[in-house]
Amino acid sequence: RPFAMLTATAHAVPKRVFTNHDFASIGIDTSDEWIRERTGIGQRYIAGEGENLTSLCTQAARDAMAAAGVTAAELDAIILGTASPDRLLPSTAVEVQAALGATRAVAFDIDAACSGWLYGSQIAEGLIATGSYETILVIGGEVLSRIVNWKDRNTCVLFGDGAGATVVKKATKQRGILSAYMRSDGTLADLLHRPKGAGNAPVTPEIILEGSHYIQMAGREVFKNAVRSMADAADRALDGAKLSAADIDVLIPHQANIRIIEATAKHAGIPMEKVFVNVEKYGNTSAASIPIALSEAQKAGIVKEGTTVMFVAFGAGFTWGSMVVRF
Ligand code: ACO
Repeated sequence: RPFAMLTATAHAVPKRVFTNHDFASIGIDTSDEWIRERTGIGQRYIAGEGENLTSLCTQAARDAMAAAGVTAAELDAIILGTASPDRLLPSTAVEVQAALGATRAVAFDIDAACSGWLYGSQIAEGLIATGSYETILVIGGEVLSRIVNWKDRNTCVLFGDGAGATVVKKATKQRGILSAYMRSDGTLADLLHRPKGAGNAPVTPEIILEGSHYIQMAGREVFKNAVRSMADAADRALDGAKLSAADIDVLIPHQANIRIIEATAKHAGIPMEKVFVNVEKYGNTSAASIPIALSEAQKAGIVKEGTTVMFVAFGAGFTWGSMVVRF
């Protein structure tokens, strides 16, 4: 180690902003105060006509590639983490490949929910370590607004749309991924899932009527598991990198909920001043959340050359993991 580094990251979001106050206009019985107090979310971006996962991911990818000075012809692979693909078949990654004209690349999706970009980065690291791949585009993107039940206040207030893309290349001695950790636990799959609408229960009018093809979540149980798993991931990140909490300049956690973020920082012994938080502006964008945060942190000059960053993610599956990266 290090084998791979994250050279440039960019993000894209839909045009439309949907604030907490806007829920009243669609008949949802909630309030700005309730949502902010429990989650820290103030607004989210929602895809409209002409916008989809492919368009958001392609825009983020183009900007990241321009910043990294990489052309489409140089891409060896495109790895796209998402739980809300444009189509169930084929992958959205191949659609992004076609849009970019990245003819040499192998392109595929991974479904690790909110851990998608983190898993993707570690898969990219593995591919680069084989020696056969040099330049890999890792994308985390979601259009969750199309798989959320807009009549269910337990879930529709939490999620947002967006995409973040990172160009991953061979590391230099001083800079790159210093530790990488991935876990999953399928015994808890039913706590956060789309119960029907795929192979086990193909869509019927009844399924559509009951809304069981949309995301369903046992909020409290998910909360407890998220806190526990993100603490585990933070511990492993430091152990793997042989660093202490004081060595971490910036913590970029998955942006699901401010209370989960605070619990993770406290467990890791990292003060909140070192934690990058933007959940207020985007809501939970699942696989897109960490790369959007990284993109913003780099633009703000919070993450720059020499900065040591810890990433921690948790999502449906459950899936979780972490990375420490020296930029
Ligand atoms: N507005 C107003 N009231 C609401 C809303 C809402 N949007 N949603 C639920 N309520 C009500 C409930 O119906 C309940 O009412 P009741 O007691 O009369 O039944 C009451 O508020 C309290 O509900 P709780 O579940 O106790 O609220 P809690 O404090 O646990 O907060 C929340 C709920 C925010 C969902 C919390 O459990 C949470 O954040 N869980 C983790 C969710 C998450 O982050 N998931 C994603 C992580 S993984 C990933 O990113 C894929």
